[in-house]
Amino acid sequence: MTGTPCILAIDQGTTSSRAILFDGEGTIRGLAQREFTQHYPEAGWVEHDPEEIWETVVAVCREVLEKAEADDLEVIAVGVTNQRETTLVWDRETGKPVHNAIVWQDRRTAEYCRTLREAGHEAMVTERTGLVLDPYFSATKVNWLMENVDGVRARAQAGKLAFGTIDSFLLWRLTGGKVHATDATNACRTCLFNIERQDWDEELLSLFDIPAALMPHVRDSAADFGNTEKALFGREIPICGVAGDQQAALIGQACFSPGMVKSTFGTGCFVVLNTGEHIVRSRNKLLTTVAYRLDGKAFYALEGSIFAAGTTVQWLRDGLGIIKSASETEALASSIDSNNGVYIVPAFAGLGAPWWDAQARGAVFGLTRGAGKAEMVRAALESTVYQLSDLVGAMVADGGMPEAMRVDGGMVANDWMMQFLAGILDMRTDRPVIAETTAFGAACLAGLQAGLYNSLEDIAGRWQLDRSFQPAMDAPTRKRNLDGWRDAVSRTLTEGR
Ligand code: G3P
Repeated sequence: MTGTPCILAIDQGTTSSRAILFDGEGTIRGLAQREFTQHYPEAGWVEHDPEEIWETVVAVCREVLEKAEADDLEVIAVGVTNQRETTLVWDRETGKPVHNAIVWQDRRTAEYCRTLREAGHEAMVTERTGLVLDPYFSATKVNWLMENVDGVRARAQAGKLAFGTIDSFLLWRLTGGKVHATDATNACRTCLFNIERQDWDEELLSLFDIPAALMPHVRDSAADFGNTEKALFGREIPICGVAGDQQAALIGQACFSPGMVKSTFGTGCFVVLNTGEHIVRSRNKLLTTVAYRLDGKAFYALEGSIFAAGTTVQWLRDGLGIIKSASETEALASSIDSNNGVYIVPAFAGLGAPWWDAQARGAVFGLTRGAGKAEMVRAALESTVYQLSDLVGAMVADGGMPEAMRVDGGMVANDWMMQFLAGILDMRTDRPVIAETTAFGAACLAGLQAGLYNSLEDIAGRWQLDRSFQPAMDAPTRKRNLDGWRDAVSRTLTEGR
């Protein structure tokens, strides 16, 4: 007799690796999580140790697989989702990375991006990739590895090395080096992928001086990605789904129709609007990205990326020490009737969409002697909401007509913040029952491929509402709040963007 069929979702995020077991109904049947070290070798640089990432992934998978065995669950497939853009190059023979992973937040290539922009390359890059020239994406990070790590360029040209985002690296390791692949949602974040032709773009490879021999094979998001090596988990398990974490969250939120939009509040906050089969070119510095690719057909989205969301609350806790835990923020923010004019612009790693200012650094405005902990906490939460509002404004200006915002991620447990968000956006804000939307999205993709789900409609039918927040802010209050924010941002932007 076989047990209840389950999918093992691996969610390799920026600060932790998680493994979650989902049954067909989307119920969590097991969860394990391990944090890992963030390395900051220089100001603005962020690295991860790939071996530590790998060790944490294997450990969390083993932990939930033991639980599956004890609970008579049958793990039929693996789905992988991951922090996107983070860049790795490793040796095809030994599997050893040539350097630490350069994380998506890392700004070391800001100058190189500026040079490329000044040389007039941005229009072509945007046309091909849907992205902008910013250190956020993988291409300039791969170039940095070629230029700065001894022997890497020669070994890359000789076909001895492999490049990948975290999904590729995990696939390589999980399959014992048999599979060097990625999916279209991850490929499109490298700045080397032609989103119209759905393949690596030779002109872009040449612009960033990256040998084609480094590149992984690009597959659909629900596809055959090989089997996990027997030695790892005692048996082979087929890997059937891969997607970058924000696209996985779009799937987990069942935003399958054009016009549906979600925001995921993690380290950063990412707003993704489904635009269906059409590539919508943003006139407002949003990114055009692949939402998912199924049966060879790409579906697209507009995305706005905020670099600091949860990070801002972490900074209050670990940097300033004014709170002990994120859970205190709701009571503190709601203990005052307004922000009393205090605004934080959390440009710790520059500002993302729609500003794209890699040089900007964080600032606090409007301090009076009466400002205290409550004002700082409220300003931190409000800063995420205002950034999100800028993005939704840009989406509307680009012709998107979102009706409601689906939210997920750690911060959405904060009812005060969700109510404030609904008020500032003047839009219904829906929080689903399944909080682990990103991992669930990876499980959905693997479940589609493995036959646990029949179709996207089948998945959409399982989405359940926890709570709707209706907008209740009057227009003058909204305007006063947003005017204060715009003034603060304008004073933070630099000439260098
Ligand atoms: O683009 C970066 C994003 O994929 C990272 O997401 O949730 O790990 O902060 P997260």
